[in-house]
Amino acid sequence: MKRLWAFFQRFLRHRRQLVAGFLCIPAAQLLDVAITVVIGKTLDRLRSASDTDFLLGVVGIILGLSLVRGVFRYLQRWWIVVVSRWVENELKQDLFDKLVSLPLSYHAASRSGDVVSRVTSDVENVRMFLGPGMMYTLGAVVMVPVSLGLLFSINAPLAATMLVPLLLMGLGMKAFTPRIHKWSLAVQESLAEIGHRAQENFGGIRVVKGYGREDSQVARFEKASRLNRDNQILLGRSRGITHALTHGANDFTFVVILVVGGMAMIDRRMAAGDLFQFIDLTFKVFWPIIAVGWIAGMYPRALASAERIDELLDRKSDLIEPASPKSLEPVRGALSLRDVSYSYPNTSTSAISGLSVELPAGSVLGIVGPTGSGKTTALLLLARMMDPATGSVCIDGTDLRQTTLANVRSAIGYVPQDSFLFSDTWRDNVSFGLAAPLDDERLARLADEVCMTEEVARFPDGLDQRIGERGVTLSGGQRQRTCIARALAREPRILVLDDALSAVDTETEAKLISNLRAAGRGRTVVIAAHRLSSVVAADLVVVLGRDGRVETQGRHADLVNRPGWYRETWQRQQARDELSVL
Ligand SMILES: Nc1ncnc2c1ncn2[C@@H]1O[C@H](COP(=O)(O)OP(=O)(O)OP(=O)(O)O)[C@@H](O)[C@H]1O
Ligand SMILES: [Mg+2]
Repeated sequence: MKRLWAFFQRFLRHRRQLVAGFLCIPAAQLLDVAITVVIGKTLDRLRSASDTDFLLGVVGIILGLSLVRGVFRYLQRWWIVVVSRWVENELKQDLFDKLVSLPLSYHAASRSGDVVSRVTSDVENVRMFLGPGMMYTLGAVVMVPVSLGLLFSINAPLAATMLVPLLLMGLGMKAFTPRIHKWSLAVQESLAEIGHRAQENFGGIRVVKGYGREDSQVARFEKASRLNRDNQILLGRSRGITHALTHGANDFTFVVILVVGGMAMIDRRMAAGDLFQFIDLTFKVFWPIIAVGWIAGMYPRALASAERIDELLDRKSDLIEPASPKSLEPVRGALSLRDVSYSYPNTSTSAISGLSVELPAGSVLGIVGPTGSGKTTALLLLARMMDPATGSVCIDGTDLRQTTLANVRSAIGYVPQDSFLFSDTWRDNVSFGLAAPLDDERLARLADEVCMTEEVARFPDGLDQRIGERGVTLSGGQRQRTCIARALAREPRILVLDDALSAVDTETEAKLISNLRAAGRGRTVVIAAHRLSSVVAADLVVVLGRDGRVETQGRHADLVNRPGWYRETWQRQQARDELSVL
């Protein structure tokens, strides 16, 4: 409960609306009881035709009371449900802010489906339990004792008898509510699985089609869909039984009241008005108890959801910002990595080990090596997506941990290995890192810098061409160059490219690299690549070995003259290029 209390405090931030809503609850409930009592008393007063005026007067009073009750009911729902929606919204926003701020290491280890369900269904579970849950509970807290008191004052033995079916119904509910919750959870999960299947399949539709796996994917979808159908049926069955049980108990209570109350009426121990009050008040006890039982059944789920939300909100970023950060301005762009090592969590080997590089501002650094040698890891450390386990990464002599992440982000333009684009226009994608979309002139210059002018001109909508989800309407090379343009738009002093030219032909590649150097006027460029042609013009090339260690370093001209991986790879790639020309 302590955990949920922390969430309830979020409701208390909207104290005024909440208190107003809470005050409306007893007002509406008491008016509800008052209407029943007035009708009961009226029935007993009616004796002859002369009572017609009295009856009409009472009808007026009842309509008035009913109107006021309606207003209270409306306001109670309005304030409490609105507050619960506000809290939901704030909670979702906090979760989203947290998720965005968490480092790559968190995202690498978590499934996106799990993250989505924390932001959606977990938040909904907590909201339902605390918002509407509170409203129904408070309603029951007022209604049940008041109605029971009145029932016992009208006819104590009959009131005591009526408790029997109520108790039976309570037991039935206790038995079936957990089942309903269990099946509704199963339905929720199987629905999420259907969503996950659909999303993954359509996201990877090229792979599905390329491998001719449509049938097997359809079969897997069918399986998930069938599971959901079965869960829905089981949920429907449990719901049906609970409905039958509550309505059965309801009717059974009627029968008890009719028999015991009817006998009392025959013996003239009970008036018709009292019997009416009795029946009506019984159901004013009956339904709130059902509602509270329902909410109590939601408790375990709400608690589990609260734990999952807390776990995410309490997670600390391992990228800690200093209390008094140093400024990087004006960034010159000198880079130094000193004895940098890093191993990923839960792995036994180092991805990068003892990497040391000194790079003056305005130079080009190439990082090459076989696949899995740690190129991406080195760039992630350089762009402070994560911190090294040992050693330091500095820009102009300042350790990245001594400045803010925002300073690092504005100094470095980072182009990841997977060229991700948003399903937006070309203009919006390139302007992603800026506050406002770029104008045509600046965009045209960027297109030129990344050698895309002709291709953009061929887009039917030019600069405002919509790009399909994840950039599917572009070629691999166009996607990569759009990502470079996106990084360049922020005019960073340091540009970091992770194999971002792999899908571009060698001629365009050479032109692009020379553009990057010329247009940046002293910009520092770091290029990780498989294709050695990318680093031919680099001022320094670092060759990583399979264990994440520096095998050797130097300029291209030196490296091709030394026996080793670099020379062999260069000769192989040269031979391949020559063959492709033939
Ligand atoms: N998130 C991760 N968790 C655990 N291990 C990882 C993770 N990312 C990378 N690795 C491992 O770290 C090592 C270095 O990977 P890295 O991606 O830096 O290599 P790379 O040189 O960029 O490879 P490629 O040329 O294929 O892009 C590899 O052995 C890889 O399996
Ligand atoms: Mg890589």
